[in-house]
Amino acid sequence: MHGLSVGDELTAIGPKNDFELSQNAGRSILIAGGIGITPILSMACELDRRQAPFFLHYACRTPEAMAYRAEAERFGAARARLYFDGGRPEDGLQLPAVLALPKPGAHVYVCGPRPLIDATIATAREIGWELSQIHFELFSNGVVSGGNRLQVELRRSSLKLDVRPDQTILDAMIEAGCDPMFDCKRGECGACSVKVLEGEAEHRDYCLSEDERADNMMCVCVSRAHSMKLVLDA
Ligand code: FES
Repeated sequence: MHGLSVGDELTAIGPKNDFELSQNAGRSILIAGGIGITPILSMACELDRRQAPFFLHYACRTPEAMAYRAEAERFGAARARLYFDGGRPEDGLQLPAVLALPKPGAHVYVCGPRPLIDATIATAREIGWELSQIHFELFSNGVVSGGNRLQVELRRSSLKLDVRPDQTILDAMIEAGCDPMFDCKRGECGACSVKVLEGEAEHRDYCLSEDERADNMMCVCVSRAHSMKLVLDA
């Protein structure tokens, strides 16, 4: 292996931001759960600097556990609301009210634990927000397990895989020596999507559209199956 020596040139590219503020948002709704405030607070500060309209909703169990509380309160009641549910969801953030009245040009940004992300996306979609208006960042890895042992046939590769409950289909493909396309491994980018030829996918991704799902595409990095077996066009 070649090591670097003093005087060697090192080329680096800038960081890639997958959780970016829209440049032209009419209004931004910022939702943070727990330590998910970290990127959301930066967004609030940036929108404040731009003098762009936003409202910050920040939820935590107790005031004592809330990070950056003073910084969030600095925006005042007209632009921020803090929630302390103490373990009682009915006292916490009420997503249907927060997300009511989707408007063209508005954007929703959410960061926190997976249940908050899932609930925000599901509520927003029910109310009528477009997927392109909803942005999120998970504070966890993608779902790896949570399913039964699964048989997967890769039709084009003529391979049969036995996917363990603690393994994703993508990881089983890699373990079998395949070279599948992937990027985020969290169901967010769609790079790993493949067509299901037989069987029924259980979708756990955040990126495929209703049309793509109807067309039998699935993200193998997070999704599993309702059927015992899947046949994939891979
Ligand atoms: S690798 Fe990004 S959705 Fe699967």
